[in-house]
Amino acid sequence: MDATPYDGGAAPGQAWSSRQLAVVVPTLNESANVPVLVGLLHEVLAGIEWEVLFVDDDSRDGTPDVVRRLAQTDPRVRCLQRIGRRGLSSACIEGILATSAPVVAVMDADLQHDETLLPQMYAALAGGDLDIVVASRYIPGGGTGDLDAKRVAISGLATKLSRLIVKSDLADPMSGFFMLRREVFSGAVRHLSGQGFKILLDIFASSPRKLRFRELAFTFRARRFGESKLDSMVAWEYLMLIADKLVGHIIPVRFVLFALIGGLGVVVNLLVLRAFLGLGARFSVAETLATIAAMVCNFMLNNKFTYRDRRLKGARLVRGLVTFCVGCSIGAVANIGIAGEVFGDGSSWWLAGLAGALIGAVWNYAIASTYTWGRAK
Ligand code: GDD
Ligand code: MN
Repeated sequence: MDATPYDGGAAPGQAWSSRQLAVVVPTLNESANVPVLVGLLHEVLAGIEWEVLFVDDDSRDGTPDVVRRLAQTDPRVRCLQRIGRRGLSSACIEGILATSAPVVAVMDADLQHDETLLPQMYAALAGGDLDIVVASRYIPGGGTGDLDAKRVAISGLATKLSRLIVKSDLADPMSGFFMLRREVFSGAVRHLSGQGFKILLDIFASSPRKLRFRELAFTFRARRFGESKLDSMVAWEYLMLIADKLVGHIIPVRFVLFALIGGLGVVVNLLVLRAFLGLGARFSVAETLATIAAMVCNFMLNNKFTYRDRRLKGARLVRGLVTFCVGCSIGAVANIGIAGEVFGDGSSWWLAGLAGALIGAVWNYAIASTYTWGRAK
């Protein structure tokens, strides 16, 4: 047996130049766009050793099969399929982690990003004095194409808000089209929020040092096939990212949301209790119904907001509701127990109540995060 470690097979002093550039492309129902994009990449990237990695979040239109079919004959094409997961940013992060290329680009699959910019981006990085090159719509020569006025206005507002977490003078921190060197990504990866869809902003906000960047102008094209996946909730995801970057190192944003929704649950509980008592129900019946109403309401709100990136549907929704209600019931017992202990020690009623509520909230949050919306499925 030969125990010499394999060193990649290159001759001494010479490295294989394979896969100099990886293009990471997040996809969600983009089956018609994938083959067109791969064809275009072949045209513009001739002369560079590249690969394209599609990170698909379980599209139902056959996108991963289209990618794998291409990959059968084209070794430059790769597919990373994620099940039970959603999120543009986390898809990009995992795509970048799954390639060994020293330079990585991120771009959309829907042909809205001008692929002819890729060689220029690559050349700009090759100079060695830049960390990241961003394709920008908001510098002279760039444009938003036929993006409607409302979206342009929202994008402008979001750009202003981004200054809270990124000090760099980026004209288009919202861009989903950029290229960076691996070391830059590695430097940021452990600090990334991974929330939402603003991966570029996340990288800038999470890098331990100021990034040296250049922006290249491009015009955002119209979508040809399929439709945009960014719905009205993107604004919410964006705020979560900003909040996470601002206070996430002190207290998890998810916990804050969870606690706020819990507080709302108390209000629901009281309102429903009053309504049933008003209808003449017995107190125990009214309180039971009110508790159930509050738990269901909290569950739905948490599914929509707090755990949006792991939201449950169909049978999983039902299973999630059950684990949530069971978890919260145990939390309520813990709450009462702790409050009783603290009160019994001679503390004031409100301190006892607060201690109980805090323990209950932390317990519920732990159960919700690990079981109800836990990753292990
Ligand atoms: N894997 C994965 N998971 N891919 C996703 C997801 C997801 O949850 N959501 C969207 N995608 C993919 C789409 O298939 C597409 O390739 C790309 O991410 C961008 O999604 P679009 O739905 O086309 O977004 P858009 O055109 O509205 O927004 C784009 O432009 C914005 C600037 O206005 C994106 O590039 C944004 O990042 C960018 O900020
Ligand atoms: Mn798009």
